[in-house]
Amino acid sequence: MLLIKRKADLVQWLDKQRSEGRSIGFVPTMGALHAGHISLIDISKKGTETTVCSIFVNPTQFNDPKDFQKYPITIENDILLLEQAGVDVLYLPEVPDIYPDGIKDLEKYDLGSLESLLEGAFRPGHFQGVCQVMRRLLEAVRPDQLFMGQKDYQQCMVVHRLLEIIGLPTRLVPCPIVREKDGLAMSSRNMRLSEDQRRTATTIHQALTRIKEGWQKGEKTDRLIKSATSLLEEKGFRVDYVSIADPMTLEPVQRSEVPAVALVAAFLGEIRLIDNMTL
Ligand code: PAJ
Repeated sequence: MLLIKRKADLVQWLDKQRSEGRSIGFVPTMGALHAGHISLIDISKKGTETTVCSIFVNPTQFNDPKDFQKYPITIENDILLLEQAGVDVLYLPEVPDIYPDGIKDLEKYDLGSLESLLEGAFRPGHFQGVCQVMRRLLEAVRPDQLFMGQKDYQQCMVVHRLLEIIGLPTRLVPCPIVREKDGLAMSSRNMRLSEDQRRTATTIHQALTRIKEGWQKGEKTDRLIKSATSLLEEKGFRVDYVSIADPMTLEPVQRSEVPAVALVAAFLGEIRLIDNMTL
């Protein structure tokens, strides 16, 4: 695996790949890699000829400075995992390589209601930061296919919108959520959970599963949301939202005959976990 730290070198190397007719797959990450990330690499390797992975803890997308300071960094292990997974090139930039003019007064994107709903509402500025970094990464890599996890359901929608805004022909491939045996969605932030919190964390998956069962029986949306919220609160979560939403718009839906996705965001201590399930 090639390790490249400078954008100029990456662009040059990728141009050569393209000139040899190789298709390019891209898996952007913030590191602290786990099997969820590796599943994206596996899917990219099946669908494209050259797989690029990036690790960059993007400062502009953290609305909570503590979350940024405490974001886990496990770079040596990450490099091992990526080598084992057969990644062709790891792009590992420092902040000035991505933001040569600094991180103040960056451009803004019109994301419509994606910025006022769910994650947009609870993490002001977060998706602007995601777009700022993704634009820079995408313009450097110019991948044929971009592999992202449905774990971050709304982020996939935001990046889809970004691709339209910047007019890149890249195809976004949303990939399934990888879970631990007890159902907890894998996440870099899980590393920060205490043993007790880790045991409790599986309640999110239980709550989503209950919503799905109830939804399929035609139970009322409000009741399903209330009982999932109570279940989480009883276990000590501080719930940001439990929502049953239209998969295309993320607006709340009422009737159980339409397709829907249930989404949850909740804190255990100071660690914020998100998850979702299509119903
Ligand atoms: P990060 O949280 O490191 O996630 C990188 C990619 O891995 C994202 O597409 C995410 O949805 C996916 N992923 C995380 N956990 C997963 C799981 N359990 N199953 C499947 N896929 C999973 O998301 C980001 O980084 C950043 O916002 C980024 C897009 C890199 C921009 O900075």
